[in-house]
Amino acid sequence: MTPNDVATDVPPLNADRLWASLRAAAEIGAWRSPGVQRLALSDADRQMRDLYCRWCRDSGLQVRIDRVGNIFARRPGAGSLAPVMVGSHLDTQVAGGRYDGVLGVLAGLEIVRWLDDRGISTRHPIEVVSWTNEEGARFRPAMLGSAVFAGTLGLQAALDQRDDDGLRFADELERIGYAGDNGIPGAPPHAYFELHIEQSDVLHRRGIDVGIVTNAYPARGLEIRVLGRTAHAGATPMHLRRDALVGAAEMITAIEALATEGDGDGRATTTRLELWPDRTGIVPGEVTLTVDHRHTGEAELEQMARRLEQTVAQIAARRGLELTCEQLWEFGAGIAFDPGLAATARRCAGELGIETLAMPSAAGHDGYWLATIAPSLILFAPCVDGITHNEHEEIEFHRVLRAVNVLAASVLEVAGQ
Ligand code: HGY
Ligand code: MN
Ligand code: MN
Repeated sequence: MTPNDVATDVPPLNADRLWASLRAAAEIGAWRSPGVQRLALSDADRQMRDLYCRWCRDSGLQVRIDRVGNIFARRPGAGSLAPVMVGSHLDTQVAGGRYDGVLGVLAGLEIVRWLDDRGISTRHPIEVVSWTNEEGARFRPAMLGSAVFAGTLGLQAALDQRDDDGLRFADELERIGYAGDNGIPGAPPHAYFELHIEQSDVLHRRGIDVGIVTNAYPARGLEIRVLGRTAHAGATPMHLRRDALVGAAEMITAIEALATEGDGDGRATTTRLELWPDRTGIVPGEVTLTVDHRHTGEAELEQMARRLEQTVAQIAARRGLELTCEQLWEFGAGIAFDPGLAATARRCAGELGIETLAMPSAAGHDGYWLATIAPSLILFAPCVDGITHNEHEEIEFHRVLRAVNVLAASVLEVAGQ
């Protein structure tokens, strides 16, 4: 049974139109089929932005761009009240899927199209938002656009970020034509909603179609520099070596083991490794690791972070290596989503005959930063086997449509008719 068979006073969305939009978006930046690669401020990102803005304008929405390229597409309300925002992101990871981020933006667009189809006007304006550089795959930090909008990251710091090739954020934003003039920080919305695929397998496995996010895993990024000594890969006897790469390798596996220490549901991942000289014939002298670590709560993360730094220091000492650790980013600590919006979504789902599950988010989302300035809620939709940040990310559309209908009903209620 699809949600459109469900008897409800909320008219069903146009499933075919939403599906067609998702398919059209998946063609942009198509990469390692069926994957997508639309790194922030790349040509593929510009193409996606152009198509999305055209769809918004064709739907009569007022489109505005702010100083970091966030796109705001507004459907006017009856009053001059603060908008109800529905947003997510259009950029993807390097190995991106067809639904991470874009589902939430296109679901928001479908909601305003659906309201127009039915001639429903709302008291609050509804604003569909696409946040710049959510993934952080090209420019750090992740969730950059929403953080600048919310005032938790300075505008100049964001504009001066550089990618691995030394290209500056502000110049790339200018190059793709999305350097807007809308003020920063932005005006807090009346409420913020974000629909996102769950990116784990709980909903899919349990046959539940809507996750109501209650809290965020605190997350940190750490840069670990391991300094050894270059030497001859043949002539230097093993006992005389200070091999930075072997030391780093021992650290990487020890870091992974920390995540599951105790009975915690921690996450610890070395996501980047840079090596010097990285040539034949010479023992590696320098390694830089980027470590992403997250846990269910602040105390648990603090404890894991301490254990992590102790562990890598012991390995370095035993191997005669020097070590430096520097925190690069953190998000998620203390983020609270709005219980009132959660109750609205639960009730709307009940009226649609759709089961929900309260659950935390271990993935960062733009809704984290919106929650610091306005009542916010993130809803999850199932993704198949939790596969994500991978070209084989997949959904069962009829199940996701149920989550979109719950989002639509909740947004309509909060925007007021
Ligand atoms: O890092 C995150 O959790 C998000 O995918 N940017
Ligand atoms: Mn995402
Ligand atoms: Mn992502």
